[in-house]
Amino acid sequence: MRPALQLIAAATLVAPIAAQVPASHTLMPVPSSVQLTAAQLRVDTGFSVSTVRVSDGRLTRAIGRAVSRLEMRAGVPLFRRIGSAGSASLVVDVASPGFAVPDLAEDESYQLNVTGSGATLTAATVVGAIRGLETFLQLQGGDAKGVFIQGATIQDTPRFRWRGLLLDVSRHFEPTDVIKRLLDGMAMVKLNVFHWHLSDDQGFRVESRAYPRLHQLGSDSMFYTQEQIREIVSYATDRGIRVMPEFDVPGHSSAWFPGYPELTVGAGPFAIARTWGTFEPTMDPTRESTYQFLDKFIGEIAGLFPDKYWHIGGDEVDPKQWKGTAAIQSYMKSHGLANEVALHTAFNARLFAIVQKHGKTPVGWDEIFQPNLPTSAVIQSWRGTAVLATSAKAGFRGILSAPYYIDHMKAAADFYLPDPIPANTDLTPEQQALVLGGEACMWGEYVVSETLASRIWPRLAAIAERFWSPQNVVDVADMYRRLDVTSRRLSEVGLRHEEHVARNVRRLAGDSTALFETLLDYVRPRDFGGSGSNQFFPHTRLMDAALPDPRASWDITGRARRAVAGDAVAATQLRTDLTRMGAVQARLTAVRDFIPAAGEGVQVAAAMSNLSRVGLDALGFMARRTTADAAWSTYADSMLAALAPRRIGQWTLVPTATDAVRILVDAAKGLPPPRN
Ligand code: ACM
Repeated sequence: MRPALQLIAAATLVAPIAAQVPASHTLMPVPSSVQLTAAQLRVDTGFSVSTVRVSDGRLTRAIGRAVSRLEMRAGVPLFRRIGSAGSASLVVDVASPGFAVPDLAEDESYQLNVTGSGATLTAATVVGAIRGLETFLQLQGGDAKGVFIQGATIQDTPRFRWRGLLLDVSRHFEPTDVIKRLLDGMAMVKLNVFHWHLSDDQGFRVESRAYPRLHQLGSDSMFYTQEQIREIVSYATDRGIRVMPEFDVPGHSSAWFPGYPELTVGAGPFAIARTWGTFEPTMDPTRESTYQFLDKFIGEIAGLFPDKYWHIGGDEVDPKQWKGTAAIQSYMKSHGLANEVALHTAFNARLFAIVQKHGKTPVGWDEIFQPNLPTSAVIQSWRGTAVLATSAKAGFRGILSAPYYIDHMKAAADFYLPDPIPANTDLTPEQQALVLGGEACMWGEYVVSETLASRIWPRLAAIAERFWSPQNVVDVADMYRRLDVTSRRLSEVGLRHEEHVARNVRRLAGDSTALFETLLDYVRPRDFGGSGSNQFFPHTRLMDAALPDPRASWDITGRARRAVAGDAVAATQLRTDLTRMGAVQARLTAVRDFIPAAGEGVQVAAAMSNLSRVGLDALGFMARRTTADAAWSTYADSMLAALAPRRIGQWTLVPTATDAVRILVDAAKGLPPPRN
């Protein structure tokens, strides 16, 4: 231990003289309470960790992972053996192991105190300590002497208990190593539910031994073996993440029927769907055999998923088959079911009893919220936010997903502000307690393993903050400042979102990669797939290389505001940005004859040229301290009206770029600057 003592001595002697309290932190999600100090806990070969009270396998593995990440940053070997003394560089003090299987009722709170001589992480449970270790790593800074952990006093507890991500592996399968990286990223931003959408019209992704034709005929041989499922559940458990399976019934279930046509109506043959949307084949809710099948299936698969919740789907049930089948219509009549919605509810009641018999609580999409639904069900709202409040008023627990569809072309800022319980809520405190949290949804129509990380990260981190942090954490510019750092940190565990554009453009653009990267700084695709996409598309086109929220555009409005306020550096930066933007069209045109992807970008690059010209003109007026004349003002206004937010082929200009030029144009016209 001598090196440690020497280090502590050095730190305490030197740090107070050199260091200051940093003006801001880069923690994401923002803790409930954080005070930075000037102290710096040096991380060097003497770094040690000890646990007092609880020290179980899950905690020691979590500490091992944290030390290993810290070691990679420090660039020197760190002390690996976890001690049990009350003194070490980091003392982890956990009161109880908590639930063996991550649970909705888990206490995830922790306290972290970092001084120049040591840090203490205190938590009620191991999962709380796992959350705190991520914060500890986020406090890392560096100086000429090496890396350190910034001094801080932190108290932290999540705002919502259910903070999830849905991953759809039916439309496109994702291998287990991709899912493990995803779980690593989720743990870094303190998400705690992995909602695994395992079956849909386009694929049935689980090995069933009771009904093997489900995976044999429903998956194109792309399914998870039971062993792989146990492996993922155990990996998630180690990170304090619940795994909730979804088998979507009675609609979205085409992939069940090639193997078991007796579950539906009609003669068949039935096939896996290859395109997107809703499909007619639907389970037959009038036959006892359907429930016997589901009972045996759920009985088998429930054993693989220790989580207490089971998602039954229930969305977008196409009533056409039920309407067109005489036997179903006569069943409805004899059972007093007025319409197909009532039939769906009757199906749900039977299904819920089965799910509960196997020890699970049912969760379903908001279509299931109908009269006579048992209040034990959890409602996942996706068709707007209103149903969450309505169902809470009716006594149902709920989770919000409607504003968090990350398969949509939105910026992190757009996802960041919607709140499961908005400040102006009319719910009583008791009703608010029924709002468990939220889930971001990564639907899989237009994503493949190659593109997945870039569609999820870093935007998911902004949503994770909404679910974890206090309600008043709403500063978008500060979110982006921290998202920038968070994005880089996520790369540390192997997520490949940061290299996405460069990696994909390399395949498309030969030696013109920089040109294409500039194009993709200022445009985003209309959607990730384009029309005509199906399950066999490789997703290697220019739009697949693009991002929904490119980093270059994050602060462009901030630069415009600063430029308008007289900041010469910001004005120079903007001039550089706009000049680069304006040059893309000519350069793309020049390579168009030998780079096919160039053709995909020429039209939107012409719009970028126009935007650039208007912005540079406006900067010119500002530099000359003259007010723009009426003719130019009219021209600039009409140009901006034409460019924002219009779709240009398969693209739109990034909204912040047109917003930034609007700020410049208004300043050139002599209008007062925007207030925020
Ligand atoms: C859904 O997006 N159909 C739940």
